[in-house]
Amino acid sequence: MASTTNSPSTGLTLPNFSIQTSTFLPKTSQRSIFKKKKPFNFNSKRVVSCKASNGKQNDADTSFLNRFDRRDILLGLGGSLYGATSLVRDPFALADPIEPDLSSCGESTVDTSKACMNVPCCPPKLKDSKIIDFEPPLGCKIRYRPAAHLVDRDYLYKFESAMERMKALPVDDPRNFMQQANIHCAYCNGAYSQVGFPDQKLEVHYSWLFFPFHRMYLYFFERILGKLIGDPDFAMPFWNWDSPCGMTMPQIYLDPYSPLYDENRNLEHQPDVVVNLNDGKSVVKQKKKNDDFYELTKREQRNRNLYVMYQQMVRSSKTASCFHGAVYRAGCVSETDIGCTPEPRGGTLENGAHLAVHKFVGAKNPPYNEDMGNFYSAGRDPLFYAHHGNVDRMWNIWKTLPGKKRRDFDEKDWLNSSFLFYDENANMVRVKVRDCLDSKTLGYDYQSVDIPWLRSKPTPRRRRPGVGQGQDQGQDVAARRKGKNRRGFPIVLDKVAVRIEIPRLKKPKNKDDEEVLVLQNIQLDRNDSVQFYVSINDDEDDDNPCKPEESEFVGSFTNVPHGDCHSESMLSTNLYLPLSEALEDLELQREDSIVVTLLPKEGEVSIGNIKIDYVC
Ligand code: C2O
Repeated sequence: MASTTNSPSTGLTLPNFSIQTSTFLPKTSQRSIFKKKKPFNFNSKRVVSCKASNGKQNDADTSFLNRFDRRDILLGLGGSLYGATSLVRDPFALADPIEPDLSSCGESTVDTSKACMNVPCCPPKLKDSKIIDFEPPLGCKIRYRPAAHLVDRDYLYKFESAMERMKALPVDDPRNFMQQANIHCAYCNGAYSQVGFPDQKLEVHYSWLFFPFHRMYLYFFERILGKLIGDPDFAMPFWNWDSPCGMTMPQIYLDPYSPLYDENRNLEHQPDVVVNLNDGKSVVKQKKKNDDFYELTKREQRNRNLYVMYQQMVRSSKTASCFHGAVYRAGCVSETDIGCTPEPRGGTLENGAHLAVHKFVGAKNPPYNEDMGNFYSAGRDPLFYAHHGNVDRMWNIWKTLPGKKRRDFDEKDWLNSSFLFYDENANMVRVKVRDCLDSKTLGYDYQSVDIPWLRSKPTPRRRRPGVGQGQDQGQDVAARRKGKNRRGFPIVLDKVAVRIEIPRLKKPKNKDDEEVLVLQNIQLDRNDSVQFYVSINDDEDDDNPCKPEESEFVGSFTNVPHGDCHSESMLSTNLYLPLSEALEDLELQREDSIVVTLLPKEGEVSIGNIKIDYVC
């Protein structure tokens, strides 16, 4: 998924998303999006400031005004539906923690290039308009969530009974399974506005809210299951997709007579098809010298997944913002707002394996790819909760990996951001991010299983002596310099690989700052499937490009078609690829430039600039 999905034309901080498997999409490579549509200058439209978000708007923006009117009406209704929960915020405050405005809850929208759909996803109304502030449970017993492929019959019986009961609850009980599923839809498809900012939608993906929101969502889901079977120690399973034995859909979810089953899945991805953690497509085609294609064997795919995991969890996740994603504060829509989110950008795991698994499980039917292939419906598949169990487990693991900066943020706007959930007793609870940093404080942890990807460090593909220092390398770079960077920016990337030499900065500000390759102003049609790979100082063999197993491979960009009903179809985004470990492995630390290879895999993009920086 493109990491930036801001939609300036509607004035939303984060719009709605839908994910599509690209298998059935019309081929986009035959047409140029840059001829058909006017290139869209993202920055020039991002002029709305936090201050303006309470009413004053960019006047060219009529779709926004329509929405604002509608929102006013909803706010009016809201008082009687939910009770007044909305606080009035200082409209001139530059930054604030995010909080959903319950009274604003309206329909969610799901859009593709073909259709726009409204979905009602709001929770049942509050009975007594009471919201309780969450208190972490007292007591010291830890529930251990088991790996789904390792559970025994007794456990399965319990889990199935709990799910059965959840599905059998009255439809207007907030603990009913569909109500639980709708929580995801409401928080991801624009049902809520932010407290104090009626024109700003709340979105829990593509920012630092991703891990905390999903953690607490699962927490209450699990508490409800436990309550329904009278077992407060019940812990739900996680899908161990990061381990070779867990890389297929877990068997317990596949029995059509089980409450764990969901018919809206991609049947072609049932076991023993191995998930592809790089992009969710089941068949990885690797071009060989002789121009034939071959599929990765299951073993090769499992092995590649381990390198992908290493890349996402270790190499590219050395700081809080690399792992968690971009800062996201209340009311901010513009890069120029001091202290606001510069852009919606998911962390490496969120954009990577997390989205890949959603795509892998969701049905192939466009335009919506229910259930797992679209955020509005993802929670309707019981497998969603096992998938996110593993995503949550990755947060725990990440904090144990070595590295001074592998720590959660300590900013107040993050710690004080909050979400609302109905708990196991059907009371509305307000949870703050600060309450959920440690899963043990919440009373749960994960069964300890092997983490094989910790040992899957990529190795350099070029194994010539003297790489990085010798004369060979010098000549090599000089040879590359000759024609590689004549193209200039913007680069239009469609069918052939592009190489460009990028100068390195002199020195980081701090010794242990992460060196990052930044691809700026990547423009594409948000409804197109787009993917390209990025490698550095490769051996220029385009028939056999670098892979995640090799140190030269530094990451990839993927756009999964998405959009909300009002935003521009042109999307502009940035991509951040941490380089420090690759530079070290390739012995390039002393070079004053690197050669970046962009290899198009699908679709077309234009790239405004590439530079090296010390941020992430
Ligand atoms: Cu809220 Cu995996 O998405």
